[in-house]
Amino acid sequence: MKDAIVTPWEVKGNIDYDKVVKQFGVSKIDPILLERIQKITGELHPFLRRNIFFAHRDLQFILDQYEKGNKFFLYTGRAPSSHTHLGHIVPWLFTKWLQDKFDVDLWFQFPDEEKFLFKRDLTLADTEKYTYENMLDVIALGFNPEKTHFLIDTKHAGIMFPEAIKVAKLINFSTAKAAFGFDNEQNIGAIFYTSMQAVPAFLPSVLQKKNIPCLIPHAIDQDPHFRVSRDVIPKLGYYKPASIQCRFLPGLGGMQEDGKMSGSSGDNATIYTVDDPKTVKNKINKYAFSGGQTSVEEHRRLGGNPDIDVAYQWLTFFEEDDEKLREIYHAYKSGAMLSGEIKKILIDKINTFLAVHQQQREKAKKKLPQYLYQPLC
Ligand code: TRP
Repeated sequence: MKDAIVTPWEVKGNIDYDKVVKQFGVSKIDPILLERIQKITGELHPFLRRNIFFAHRDLQFILDQYEKGNKFFLYTGRAPSSHTHLGHIVPWLFTKWLQDKFDVDLWFQFPDEEKFLFKRDLTLADTEKYTYENMLDVIALGFNPEKTHFLIDTKHAGIMFPEAIKVAKLINFSTAKAAFGFDNEQNIGAIFYTSMQAVPAFLPSVLQKKNIPCLIPHAIDQDPHFRVSRDVIPKLGYYKPASIQCRFLPGLGGMQEDGKMSGSSGDNATIYTVDDPKTVKNKINKYAFSGGQTSVEEHRRLGGNPDIDVAYQWLTFFEEDDEKLREIYHAYKSGAMLSGEIKKILIDKINTFLAVHQQQREKAKKKLPQYLYQPLC
């Protein structure tokens, strides 16, 4: 089998997450760490119980500081290039849980220049449109407006740029090449970009004139950015940012061919937050890779394979009830539950979620100004 690819620009293939842990040099989240989190939060989010958030850097440091009364802030982001799909919201759902449980501030970056620089056909007008659309999705998830601050790179350049150049001055081209695989044809905006992604990891410390620990929840493909930032930020006098990383929601087409769900692998592999119930139903029925047998008789006799069945895999992300999930697993594996039936469970689950989400998304339009960071002038 060909090796999977996991970079900030491309995720492809059947990902061996143990290998990624070794390659990237992150640490696995072990039972001791889970217990430590649970002591503070009272319960564990399903993404932690199910190892969907599976790795970290320096999480112990964040918990040590927290226990001493030194609160951290959260930082995550989204580079607008398309409508939000369900894969994007996985780390956001978890970030929301962290914000609630630890009662901390969240800085949310919308680097509207990132995909403009990396995708040939995307204009700044496109990214501006999707910045707006994506912000509605973040707000719809219910982040605390008093503790959540949106940064849009082109709009907040006045406060971000002076910090970004301090970062940029400490990263040379060989480091950027080694971390991101750039060649000489790469445009120089793209080469600079990682300096902008580093900024929110210490900007709150700059603004509040005191050193504040930072925890970054993100999908594992973003780690190269933070690997580089972690070397630089302490040289500017701030804490090394800590991070916690998740796996990808597989594309509907299955994990073999599609490491994550991506807007760029075609609209059919993806469910967007703006999709209507019928579209959701059609996409899942038509495109969700099935671990079932070719006929009902065969399925009853041999059972399905939940480990490769995308409907089941998605339920591990979206069905919060462990008991229900276990029942589905066994029913499907034994052949008592058919592919159409497990898909139906997923369709209902997603459509129930999206009905609420789309309502909240409408309401978000009015709330937006509360979330935009307003520098004091
Ligand atoms: N580069 C990310 C993307 O492609 C966006 C992003 C910016 C981000 N800052 C972040 C993601 C911090 C996670 C954490 O969408």
